Amino acid sequence: MAGPTGTEDRHIVLVGMMGSGKTSVGRQLAERLGRPFLDSDAQVEARTGSTVREIFETEGLGEAAFRVLEAEALAHALADPVPSVIAAAGGVVLDSANRARLRATATVVWLRAEPAVLATRVTGGVHRPLLGHDPRTVLEQMHRERRALYEEVAEGRQVDVGTHSVSAAVDAVLELVA
Ligand code: S3P
Repeated sequence: MAGPTGTEDRHIVLVGMMGSGKTSVGRQLAERLGRPFLDSDAQVEARTGSTVREIFETEGLGEAAFRVLEAEALAHALADPVPSVIAAAGGVVLDSANRARLRATATVVWLRAEPAVLATRVTGGVHRPLLGHDPRTVLEQMHRERRALYEEVAEGRQVDVGTHSVSAAVDAVLELVA
């Protein structure tokens, strides 16, 4: 049943950089809405039986193979008719087909924070092999490459997670999608 804004029957997808809290905010948001919660990295791991790091680090696989699996997991999640909350891995916006699919089938919200803030939150992330030994520099570079793409798919819906606690971010997302 669509609500007055037509968003009630759409998936809600959280996008943003590594460390922006997509999984913690998404989990709480799903609980508050009584919807299923899906995390695209977890979907890739469940579908392949390998960890994200293993896929990145296996010869003959690597990032290119991961991006294909990521796109498949996202498409699969978005094709489910039951409206859910989806935490989309940071890199999904790199692919134009992913972006088109997101805009067509979901209400997308960008969880936004400065790279310096994100860098304080990502230490020890085992599923984030791209961060290497200098997460702040990597995140600054990614932010430059991706911010316009997050903006494009979120169509103006942004929550500043640098200044919000998880539950305040959930409230802010709920306001945006109401
Ligand atoms: C990536 C983000 C990670 C994971 C992988 C690559 C990226 O997911 O998919 O390490 O390119 O931004 P999270 O955004 O959930 O940390």
